[in-house]
Amino acid sequence: MNPLDLAGARPGPAFTVTFDGRQIEALPGQTVAAALWAAGITSWRTTRRTGRPRGIFCGIGVCFDCLVTVNGRPNQRACLVPVHSGDVIRTQEGTGHED
Ligand code: FES
Repeated sequence: MNPLDLAGARPGPAFTVTFDGRQIEALPGQTVAAALWAAGITSWRTTRRTGRPRGIFCGIGVCFDCLVTVNGRPNQRACLVPVHSGDVIRTQEGTGHED
C-alpha cells in the first residue's frame, strides 16, 4: 500500500526539484530526505576522510549523517529541511566547503 494512503494524507500537487542535476518529483510537506527517498535515493553525502556514503540515520535531526547542500548552502539536515519547488539539491562531499 502507498504510504500516503496509510497515513490518509492528501498533499497538494507535486512539484519538481533537482538532485545532482536530475529532476525528481516532490510533494508539499515533505522534507528533502523524504523526497530523495521517494525517488529511490538513499545516500547524498560522503564522509570527510574515507568518502563513505551517508544518508538518513536517526531521521530526527540528531546524528547529522544526512547533511546535504540545498540551494548552494552546505550542511543542511535533509531530515529536517522542508523541500520547496525548484530547490537545487546536491550531494555533499566532506564538509561541503572547498577544503
Ligand atoms: S538523519 Fe540524523 S540528523 Fe538527519
